[in-house]
Amino acid sequence: MEIDPQKVSRNDFYRLLTATVVPRPIAWVSTVGRDGAAANLAPHSFFTISAVSPPIVQFTSVGRKDSLRNVEASGEFVVNLAPEELFEQINDTATDFPHGVSEFEAVGIATEPSRFVKPPRVAASPVALECELHSTLRFGDSTVVFGRVVHAAVAEDVMADGHPDIRKLRPLSRLGKDEWGTVGEVREISRIRYADWDGPLRSGGEAR
Ligand SMILES: Cc1cc2nc3c(=O)[nH]c(=O)nc-3n(C[C@H](O)[C@H](O)[C@H](O)COP(=O)(O)O)c2cc1C
Repeated sequence: MEIDPQKVSRNDFYRLLTATVVPRPIAWVSTVGRDGAAANLAPHSFFTISAVSPPIVQFTSVGRKDSLRNVEASGEFVVNLAPEELFEQINDTATDFPHGVSEFEAVGIATEPSRFVKPPRVAASPVALECELHSTLRFGDSTVVFGRVVHAAVAEDVMADGHPDIRKLRPLSRLGKDEWGTVGEVREISRIRYADWDGPLRSGGEAR
């Protein structure tokens, strides 16, 4: 099928994109408003690393939501990793609670204070990236939020050999429709330097 985004509805193309750009990591974003009250928490799967040095991450608000309003007002947010065991709670925090209702309180999610920013961390999440707003970029009704990571907190029990271990982190991902993913088979392979490259066929004659 060849699909012209101009010839299908916004929603149909959105559904195509979210079903094909998969799996997406989930930023479970905590924020507070200017007054610091009613901490907000919502999952965002339009999320990735934008830059390494300085360390910048980004998430996209499709429409103007509480998370975006709070980030604009306070200049801060925390990206909490979305762990598999909190599946239902993470989904609960995507409910469109009225402005001023804290998802932490409504869903019953324990907080812990952040080190350098006002929004709290999710206590049960193994990773929290504390961010200061760098900038935003608007595309139609979507706003990309870029945050400079000023601090990372990683639970000791997900570390192995000084590094976060994927089998201990057990992050959820977002797929298309209402589908979510868990970490499946993990395969390892090291990159080959050109100096060691011996062509598409291995010395044993087997195809790659
Ligand atoms: C797994 C998952 C991923 C989501 N990703 C996004 C996203 O990337 N951007 C977005 O605007 N909404 C996303 N949503 C929907 C928001 O979480 C939802 O609209 C939420 O109510 C926004 O909360 P807020 O108004 O407190 O910011 C996602 C929902 C789920 C369940």
